[in-house]
Amino acid sequence: MSDILHDNLLLPSPLQPIKLADNLSVLVKRDDLIHPVISGNKWRKLKYNLDYILSNALDHVITFGGPFSNHIHALAGACQLLRIRCTAIIRGEIDLHNPTLRFCTDAGMELISVSRSAYRLKEQDPGIKEILKSYHPACIIPEGGANELAMRGVAEITDELEDTLGDAPDYIVLSAGTGCTAAGLLLSDTLKSKVIVIPALKSNHLYPEILSMSKHKNKDLLFVNTDYHFGGYAKWNENLVKFITEFESSTAIPLDQVYNGKAMYGLCDLISRKYFEDGARIVYLHTGGLQGKAGMEYRNTKINS
Ligand SMILES: Cc1ncc(COP(=O)(O)O)c(C=O)c1O
Repeated sequence: MSDILHDNLLLPSPLQPIKLADNLSVLVKRDDLIHPVISGNKWRKLKYNLDYILSNALDHVITFGGPFSNHIHALAGACQLLRIRCTAIIRGEIDLHNPTLRFCTDAGMELISVSRSAYRLKEQDPGIKEILKSYHPACIIPEGGANELAMRGVAEITDELEDTLGDAPDYIVLSAGTGCTAAGLLLSDTLKSKVIVIPALKSNHLYPEILSMSKHKNKDLLFVNTDYHFGGYAKWNENLVKFITEFESSTAIPLDQVYNGKAMYGLCDLISRKYFEDGARIVYLHTGGLQGKAGMEYRNTKINS
């Protein structure tokens, strides 16, 4: 890994205790603090991808994402620091007032807009295939950075936790989109904790998808709770906003409304429903995504204007 990225790294990421119940120990693993630009699960997922790019002297990387994607934001920031050319194929229109895309273009990322229908079928779409062909031999990183190298990076969290705590926690709780981060934890050889996954979207497929990505390793440690999607991906309500505001003011831990707000809400609700046994040690993995807060606020003002 390049020294340029190591300069600002906070690893192992801090474990911050929060008081959610008298009979439980809850620690927040602040992966959101790992790096000022490449934070949360983006650091974990990009680490070995960037190593691969650097060690193979590749000078161009292409990825995919929605217009508010944390992944394209992090990749744009990393490529700017490493002076690697980067391109993102964006789902739908490119609006440069959107703070995420603004950051990406300012960082030097090339943005290519494709229709939502082309994006949906990106593996088969002739236009997208043509773009990728014309950029050969650029390194292609999938949407959300979800690949084997990403899971290798995530798997390191379990050792990091044991080194800091002296023992594995009983539970690791985290948000999910593609499920790649959760699958990375399950792929760890040293995982002993139960992994509670709280999807940010409405899906009944996430459990089998995570099992498939993790090749059924540590299958018995996986629990997916689909009760806290708040209507679907990037949807939320007043109740969630109120929860986030109160949580932030009592803990000083920021949460976004797309991923960590929902998963933390889910954890608090599960605690209030006595899901966890007395004395349980719980680590909530903060997966970052805070750049997305400004994007979501911008999206909302646009929808409401
Ligand atoms: C901040 C944040 N948290 C959680 C996730 C979900 O991660 P995964 O797609 O690996 O399940 C994402 C999306 O990548 C994200 O940006």
